[in-house]
Amino acid sequence: MRYTGLIEKYRDRLPVSESTRIISLGEGNTPLIKLENIPKELGKEVDLYVKYEGLNPTGSFKDRGMTMAVTKAVESGSEAIICASTGNTSAAAAAYAARAGIKAFVVIPQGKIALGKLAQAMIHGSTIIQIKGNFDDGMKIVKEISNHAPVSIVNSINPFRLQGQKTAAFEIIEELGSAPDYHSLPVGNAGNITAHWMGYTEYHEIGKSDSKPTMLGYQAEGAAPFIKGSKVDNPETIATAIRIGNPQSWEQALKLSKESNGWFDAFTDKEILATQKMLTEKEGVFCEPASATSVAGALRDIKLGKIPEGSSVVCTLTGHGLKDPDTAIAQCDQSAMINVNPTLEEVKKAILDHM
Ligand code: F0G
Repeated sequence: MRYTGLIEKYRDRLPVSESTRIISLGEGNTPLIKLENIPKELGKEVDLYVKYEGLNPTGSFKDRGMTMAVTKAVESGSEAIICASTGNTSAAAAAYAARAGIKAFVVIPQGKIALGKLAQAMIHGSTIIQIKGNFDDGMKIVKEISNHAPVSIVNSINPFRLQGQKTAAFEIIEELGSAPDYHSLPVGNAGNITAHWMGYTEYHEIGKSDSKPTMLGYQAEGAAPFIKGSKVDNPETIATAIRIGNPQSWEQALKLSKESNGWFDAFTDKEILATQKMLTEKEGVFCEPASATSVAGALRDIKLGKIPEGSSVVCTLTGHGLKDPDTAIAQCDQSAMINVNPTLEEVKKAILDHM
């Protein structure tokens, strides 16, 4: 049967009815890739997987939530949606609004969203409201705006978003036969870690998995409210997707972390970028900087033995590397680019010099 998106697939576990018009771009069903070279080098016996959410239609996990949020917005008669965003939510909102034939307004921090995400929001025809402030400032306004303008909020405080996002946990259980021992995610607003826990809990309750994972949340050091224990006023990190100081799902994330015996940790920008590069060079998987935080965390904790050998670990790679081409190019060695004349001789020399 043709795959037509996660709402059709998980219809019986999502709040839709037979008559609901489904707004889908075929999201979900993303690859769960088992890493081979990195664990080998680490010298540790672990089954380490990455769930490549960058392969969703707009290049991030946000599509899972957006198909639900826009479907429900349209069902309720809404003609416009709005979100605050560090970039990926705005890309997804813009695309799904285009598909639905409604308007999208996206509130983004000026100069702090990656180029690919900005291109997406623009080309899909959303109205972009740039603010001289950060994501948290934008979120504050968006939370109030529905009292002043006829728009539906599609940030993860919209409960339908998390309903859609929980399906990533369903897919993982179906593929592995049960939940992994550990699940690692980059944490910004903490919506996605909350959604995953919902999904794992639901499938555990109906007997599709005999266990639930320990949930690990990793942040960027300059934007790490969960490590600090309180909100961060001026979050800063190269991983702009998670440049958030006041997570909207704070309580839920603390609760699930405790319930699952999990933990939070944080990484410097340098460590995050090094992990992003390692994934591209050693495994052929290109994710955006924020996404690499999940793998940085898992690897450190495997090394430290906090995650014991024999464990199965899934890391979510939340967004595609092409989202942020500037950061990718900036960390590459420019001398790897060889300029030659278009002759057989010069191309041959370039190859032989670099074998
Ligand atoms: N990774 C990426 C690539 C993201 O875009 C985000 C969030 C996260 C991780 C964190 O997920 O907020 O559920 O904890 N991006 C939002 C946005 C805030 O506006 O695109 P979270």
